[in-house]
Amino acid sequence: INIELPDEQARLETAQKLKIGLYFATWWALNVVFNIYNKKVLNAFPYPWLTSTLSLAAGSLMMLISWATKIAETPKVSLEFWKALLPVAIAHTIGHVAATVSMSKVAVSFTHIIKSGEPAFSVLVSRFLLGEAFPLPVYLSLLPIIGGCALTAVTELNFDMTGFMGAMISNLAFVFRNIFSKKGMKGMSVSGMNYYACLSILSLLLLAPFAIAVEGPKMWAAGWQTAVSQIGPNFVWWVIAQSVFYHLYNQVSYMSLDQISPLTFSVGNTMKRISVIVSSIIIFHTPVRPVNALGAAIAILGTFIYSQAKQ
Ligand code: 3PG
Repeated sequence: INIELPDEQARLETAQKLKIGLYFATWWALNVVFNIYNKKVLNAFPYPWLTSTLSLAAGSLMMLISWATKIAETPKVSLEFWKALLPVAIAHTIGHVAATVSMSKVAVSFTHIIKSGEPAFSVLVSRFLLGEAFPLPVYLSLLPIIGGCALTAVTELNFDMTGFMGAMISNLAFVFRNIFSKKGMKGMSVSGMNYYACLSILSLLLLAPFAIAVEGPKMWAAGWQTAVSQIGPNFVWWVIAQSVFYHLYNQVSYMSLDQISPLTFSVGNTMKRISVIVSSIIIFHTPVRPVNALGAAIAILGTFIYSQAKQ
C-alpha cells in the first residue's frame, strides 16, 4: 500500500506547481518571440498564407525528425484518430491563417486585443449552437469583453477591416478547434506534444494547396527578393525564427493543457496576450491612444471576470 505522508504530498504539490509555472513562463516567452519575428517578417514580406504554411511545415519537420531519431516517442495512431483530428485541423488551419492575415494588416497588439475576446465567442457558440446554458454572471462578464474590444476597435489609429475580421474569424475558428479537440482527445492515448505534432502535419496538408492558390510561387519569389534586398541575407533567419517559435510555443501550450483544466489554460492564454501586447507596443513603437488602451484593459479584465464566473 502506498501511503503518502503529508510532507511528501506537499512536496509533490509544490513540484507540480513549479512545473506548471515553468510551462507557463516558457509558453509566454516563446509566444512573444514568435509574435515579434512574425511581424518583422510580415512587414518586409506581406505573404501571410506562405508564412503560416511555413510555421506548420517547420513544426511537422521538427517532429518527424524527433520521431525518426527517437528523441520523441512516435505516437501509435489509427485511422480513427486521423478522422477525429480532421475537424480540429480544419479549425486550427482557419484560425491560424486568419490570425496571420490579421497581423499582416494591423498592429500585433490590435490583433491580440481582439483575440482576447475569444471567451465571448466560446459562450455564444456554446449557447446558440450547442444549446448549453450558463449562469447569469457568465453572460454579464461578456459585456466588458465585447465592450472593451469594440472600444479598442473604434479608437484604433490604424484600423483595417481585413485585420479586424481576421482576428474575429480566428476567434471563432479557435472556439471550434477547442470544442472538437476535447471530443477528439477523448479516449486517445496520445501525449499533448504528439497530439499537436499530428495536428500540425494535417493542417500543413490542408493549408499548402490554399496558400499556393491564394498567393503562389510567383508572388513569393518576387516578394522574397524585395525583402532580402531590404533586410539582407539575415531575412531567412527571421523566417526560420518565426516558424520554429510558432511550433515551440504551441507545443508547450499543448503540453501544459495536458496538466491543467481548460479554464486555467484560458486564463494563462489571456495573460500571454498581455505580455505580447505590451512587448509588441514597446518593440514596434505602436502608437496607442489612452482610450484605446482603456478598451484593451476593460476587455482583458472582462476575460478574468469571465474565468471567475465560469468557476
Ligand atoms: C496563429 O498564428 O495561430 C495565432 O497567432 C495564434 O494565436 P494564439 O495566440 O491564439 O495561439
